[in-house]
Amino acid sequence: MMAYGACIFDLDGVITDTAHYHFLAWKRLAESVGVPFDEEDNHQLKGVGRMESLAYILAKSDRTFDEAARARLAEQKNDDYKNLIREISPADLLPGILDAFDWLTERGMKIGLASASKNARPVIESLGVADRFHYVADAAQIPRGKPAPDIFLDVATAFGLSPEDCIGVEDAAAGVTAIKSAGMIAIGIGDPVILAHADLILPDTADLVGKGFAPLIG
Ligand code: BG6
Ligand code: MG
Repeated sequence: MMAYGACIFDLDGVITDTAHYHFLAWKRLAESVGVPFDEEDNHQLKGVGRMESLAYILAKSDRTFDEAARARLAEQKNDDYKNLIREISPADLLPGILDAFDWLTERGMKIGLASASKNARPVIESLGVADRFHYVADAAQIPRGKPAPDIFLDVATAFGLSPEDCIGVEDAAAGVTAIKSAGMIAIGIGDPVILAHADLILPDTADLVGKGFAPLIG
């Protein structure tokens, strides 16, 4: 067992099921430009930033889209997404998340947020958990998105901790790669095939304390 100083969470798909709303909004956007969009595409895009995700979808189209058209499409997706999450509330926290925050806080560990989403701040406020985080990375200030390690390193730096003193929690392949590239321990939530490069994989967040933190941290 190790003494860790912080746990750094992804947001979409870890703290709340907004990953599903991102999927719906991207699917509508893709279909509006005549590009099919399935679960496999969705896995590729989890954790990936807005403009990079749009580029992935538009690369499958025969048409070309200039910068202004791309900006309009990104705005269209974001408006659709914001509409989908309008009614989000503390009831939308995934199971075990509040227990996880309590468990970490009782042990004096810092809690960080490393989300690629520029909507992260309003989402954690709607969920009623904004004050549980000691630091929330600002995706707009991080030039290289996941799978680059930068956003996780930004949180570790804010805490004055070495990467090896931090645990990251992610539901996306790109996110687990980012945590591992940062030199941190990775807990993957979800599919063991997609997240095979994580140090520990749990089927869902309800097991975070009992099967994740307790065996790792004690
Ligand atoms: C990530 C999601 O957290 O944020 C992606 O997993 C999403 O699906 C990305 O595209 C960017 O989010 P936003 O809210 O800035 O468009
Ligand atoms: Mg995620």
